[in-house]
Amino acid sequence: MRAKIIGTGSFLPKKIATNNDLSALMDTSDEWIKSRTGICERHLVSSQSENTLSMAVNAGKSALENAGLLPEEIDLILVATVSSDYITPSTACMVQKELHAVHAAAFDINAACSGFLFALNTADAYFQAGIYRTALIIGVETLSKLVDWNDRSTCVLFGDGAGAAVLKASQDGMIASLQGSNGAKGDALVCKSRTNNNPYISTDASPSYLYMDGKEIFKFAVKKEPECIQELLAQTGLAPSDITWYLLHQANQRIIASIAKKLKLPLDKFPSNVHHCGNTSAASIPILLDEVHRAGKLKEGDLLLLSGFGAGLTWGAALLKW
Ligand code: UT7
Repeated sequence: MRAKIIGTGSFLPKKIATNNDLSALMDTSDEWIKSRTGICERHLVSSQSENTLSMAVNAGKSALENAGLLPEEIDLILVATVSSDYITPSTACMVQKELHAVHAAAFDINAACSGFLFALNTADAYFQAGIYRTALIIGVETLSKLVDWNDRSTCVLFGDGAGAAVLKASQDGMIASLQGSNGAKGDALVCKSRTNNNPYISTDASPSYLYMDGKEIFKFAVKKEPECIQELLAQTGLAPSDITWYLLHQANQRIIASIAKKLKLPLDKFPSNVHHCGNTSAASIPILLDEVHRAGKLKEGDLLLLSGFGAGLTWGAALLKW
């Protein structure tokens, strides 16, 4: 049995920060951000009660309603995030508690922007092994608390949000997937943990924020993501044009356009929401999936190719039938 997506959901905080709002806070401009990334605005948490858990719960509830499943019917909860509110318990266990999904096993996956794909592939592997039959997978990030708001080259890129999918074991659904990592290149995108309370170690008390070598990540993305997509297509014998929709990680419209060009496909096969969400890391693919689903664009039998890349470095792709 394979994983079939039977419901989607998402949540974006109400507060919207436009590029012009950010240019009032730092030396940047709408023109710089839009021309280099396609981003016009992003949603950001703006109160203590809005956090990684609350966004994950909202997206998860919405996906369950959409799927018509009760929380008690879920066997597995996977939350992909690098911005948990707590180190322990995991966000997945906290979501389980909030939703009363009392029969689920729950854990988090840390694969940055590829995290939702790693969660999808993990759930699919459990289904293929016959261990579980239903899963709620969530990608959620509050990167606004990790970025350095004095580093204009990164803070303008990211947004907060959550996206979720409910999976059910089925004869169809997932067709093929792949994922990979290159830890040797991990220095290009890092965020160190913040404190060491060990009395035998002198601690650097300075806060550690997210650091990104944007150019390195850009080069990695425009090379690795199309390679990954082509490898997946080769596994299945499908041509790029056979895919109905490409739902890619939403980091930068120029990266999406470059991938479309490499695959010799029109850009209208690549729905995008980076203009209003910014880069929401692990949440970006499921938020986009939910938007496309709720807009009525997905028809039974459509072939969807989901793909992304991120810190680690990590990358992944999944091909599935809707
Ligand atoms: O999901 C995680 C993956 N992350 C990504 O996908 C990010 C991938 N990288 C990128 O998208 C691009 O590299 C960026 C959008 C981050 C940067 O675009 P770029 O065309 O590579 O710009 P750049 O780094 O070459 O910066 C050009 C100039 C620099 O000024 P000088 O040194 O040429 O005078 C920067 O200081 O732009 C300056 N700059 C800014 N100016 C206005 C950097 N950030 C800003 C800013 N506003 N926010």
